[in-house]
Amino acid sequence: MYVEQMMNDYRQLHAHPELSGKEEETSAWICSRLQALGIEVKPYAPMSVVGWIPGKTGERTIALRADIDALPIQEEADVPYRSTVDGVAHLCGHDGHTAVLLAVAAWLVNENIEHDANILLLFQSAEEISPSGADALCRAGVMDGVDEVYGLHLWQGLPLGTIGTSEGPLMASIDDFDITVYGKGGHGAEPEATIDPVVVASQIVQSFQSIVSRTLSPLDAGVVTVGSIQAGEAFNVIPDTARLIGTMRGLSYEAVETMKREVTKRAEGIAAAFGATADVTLIEGTPPLVNDATCASYAIEAAQRVEGTTFELVRPSMGGEDFSFYLKETKGAYVWIGMASDVSAHPHHHPKFRIDPRAFPYAFDYCQQLIQLRA
Ligand code: NI
Repeated sequence: MYVEQMMNDYRQLHAHPELSGKEEETSAWICSRLQALGIEVKPYAPMSVVGWIPGKTGERTIALRADIDALPIQEEADVPYRSTVDGVAHLCGHDGHTAVLLAVAAWLVNENIEHDANILLLFQSAEEISPSGADALCRAGVMDGVDEVYGLHLWQGLPLGTIGTSEGPLMASIDDFDITVYGKGGHGAEPEATIDPVVVASQIVQSFQSIVSRTLSPLDAGVVTVGSIQAGEAFNVIPDTARLIGTMRGLSYEAVETMKREVTKRAEGIAAAFGATADVTLIEGTPPLVNDATCASYAIEAAQRVEGTTFELVRPSMGGEDFSFYLKETKGAYVWIGMASDVSAHPHHHPKFRIDPRAFPYAFDYCQQLIQLRA
């Protein structure tokens, strides 16, 4: 019965995707579904829907989270319930997450499931962008009084029938930098009269290559990538400025802080050594997703109870996930529900990405086990 509900809801959501922060119809639909079950909906942030189910004693509160937004990509998968919106599609699996959490809500109410703890159901807007929906909910106080928070992703990086997580870092931070080097332009044949920002920028790029290898512990992962350099337009003109933009990824708060500090220090210091200046802007995105070890052990126990699946301790992904904002506020854990198969053969965000719906019962069962263990 819940399997059928999940399939129907998934198809409905998949056919009607909405972009991050613009999930008006999606959130109204989720809201009406929860209210039809008699679940109280609490207002925290626009486009996100937060359902509240009081527990028997109510001494503790457990939160479960699903994300609801789609991507600005044209779908190429040939399915009967394909996206009806041009250039917008659910190509990450958030439609599946929403369908699973709606089934959990229905199960809790319809089966009169007993639980001591209050249960908070988070249907979160805007996972795919910055500023993120999780950040907005946290700023609005959604984690106040929450003891534990759990989330999941239907994951194409793991085979169907596998559930994976880690006891610490699972996904990376995302922070960007935007650097302008101010030199002194002039004739390309008279460099002595200039301060060449192209040379300064190239030294900065070179120096960034040793941030990870020389300032992070070899046991701590990080990435510093310069994605674009723009300077000058002519064969024989030294420009006034050069611009470098790029991204940093890390698996620990310490690594992130080190990379931010080094990017700033090196750009400014190298520029100064040449008599130029560097204006460094750091654009904060998403913190690293670090599971709490105790909550991860509960998540692992729940996963091991899911019939038909095997549990695996996994290597983290350098992709980001804004579930990390909740983990900054309270303890919790995030897991991946594997679904790679002949049906789900393309990675997340690929135009041909597809969910394998055979993973739905595993995700649903995992949530049920977790609620029975922790709520
Ligand atoms: Ni996603």
